[in-house]
Amino acid sequence: MKLGIDFGTSNSAAAAVIDGQVVPVRFGEALQFRTTVYFPEVMRDPDDFELTSALEHQVAELIESGRRDANAAGRSRTPQELRRDAIRVVRRQWMEQQVREPRSSAALLQNAVYGDEALDAYFLENEGNLVQSPKSMLGYNLHPRARQTITGIATHILEHIRLTASRQFQVNVRTATLGRPVQFRSSIGDAGNAQAMEILESAAIAAGFDAVDFLEEPSAAAMHYHAGSRERHDTVVVDIGGGTTDVAHASIGGDGAPQIHRAWGIPRGGTDIDLALSLAAYMPLFGRGITRVPTHHYVEAAMVQDMTRQRDFRQHRYQDVDAPFDKRLQALQDTGNTARLYRGVERCKIALSSAPSHRELLDFIERDLQVEVESTALVEAASTYLRELQELLAEVRADIGREPASVFLTGGMSRAGYIQRQVAAAFPGARLVQGDPSFGVVQGLALSAAS
Ligand SMILES: Nc1ncnc2c1ncn2[C@@H]1O[C@H](COP(=O)(O)OP(=O)(O)OP(=O)(O)O)[C@@H](O)[C@H]1O
Ligand SMILES: [Mg+2]
Repeated sequence: MKLGIDFGTSNSAAAAVIDGQVVPVRFGEALQFRTTVYFPEVMRDPDDFELTSALEHQVAELIESGRRDANAAGRSRTPQELRRDAIRVVRRQWMEQQVREPRSSAALLQNAVYGDEALDAYFLENEGNLVQSPKSMLGYNLHPRARQTITGIATHILEHIRLTASRQFQVNVRTATLGRPVQFRSSIGDAGNAQAMEILESAAIAAGFDAVDFLEEPSAAAMHYHAGSRERHDTVVVDIGGGTTDVAHASIGGDGAPQIHRAWGIPRGGTDIDLALSLAAYMPLFGRGITRVPTHHYVEAAMVQDMTRQRDFRQHRYQDVDAPFDKRLQALQDTGNTARLYRGVERCKIALSSAPSHRELLDFIERDLQVEVESTALVEAASTYLRELQELLAEVRADIGREPASVFLTGGMSRAGYIQRQVAAAFPGARLVQGDPSFGVVQGLALSAAS
């Protein structure tokens, strides 16, 4: 049995074809889980410090330079004093290194928790690491250790999926088709796509798959749409998720095989609207635009997917910022609070798709602190993304050179009316078909895996 796996920025799901029917994999009660991982941090105790021969060598070098400095300054230092100071320096460096570099990624990930339970575990434990949307880091310029950690996280997620599916289907699942965006989110241009696929492939092998192949997510959604379409016709499939927006042009329906003509994609999605909304509507409560705290601090705090930025944010000192922003920023630095704030921002984005305003209590920051956001703020926050979407769809329309008969819309963001309207406006002559927002891609992946 070959599995279809949708490893999404925000949500992951899997399915397989059994007796001609697509059967979703169940994760507890649900058919998908949030692509979030929590792992308790492994840190060395200062008491574990031991002078290895390598550290002893550093101590000897520090004693020597300390002696030279003392001589140059005309001071006299006893050998005991020089040695004590040298050990203090080496020990401090050792501790800093242990905090930066946990023992090994494998040890770190042994106690990992996935999905919504990851957030709960993080809030409960109040320490450790929360990794949200690891997919959005796959195409980034990664330090070798960070790459190892990300690969380990992807491995655990894929293993979780493989084992859950194997239990449910009562066979040892060993092959899969994985979805991939047309363009991964990347900080290294096109090389990001190759790196992301390499990481996913090695993670899949480490997770116990013998082999995996990849299918572009909008092409998968087209396969799904094809399976339910009686009439052969020309369609444009639009999949708008948390991290990427993907489009495919295909001939589907009827008795023939689906034909994918071309795919397009931009590394932008729902999380970009979240970021803009957070900066515009939430961060002013923390002094953005009011204090002299640099804007990039607020970006670091808002980008919960980016482990490096999150760490940088927690290292700033805010005791000299004007009240009340000093205390609020310090509270935001407390464990779990950027994740709590982000959860609220996403809820706010979803609520404002259909309500004129949204109010949220931020009592984890300050007693009775509230944020009240009007839908005009969402319109403003979504404007950059909507412009990029409009440009992408105009390019697609120009490349195809004619109006498709239908536009098939899927992905979590396609639940929002403003997204539906924007897509419909780009193809005014086409029939808009509202697909299943959450499972269009994974069903197509399962069909493709089975064929
Ligand atoms: N009702 C809603 N209104 C607006 N946005 C929504 C709604 N429901 C979900 N979303 C957004 O949809 C996005 C998640 O969509 P989806 O599950 O398709 O993404 P994904 O497949 O994990 O990501 P990707 O395909 O980009 O890797 C999130 O940004 C979420 O906030
Ligand atoms: Mg998706």
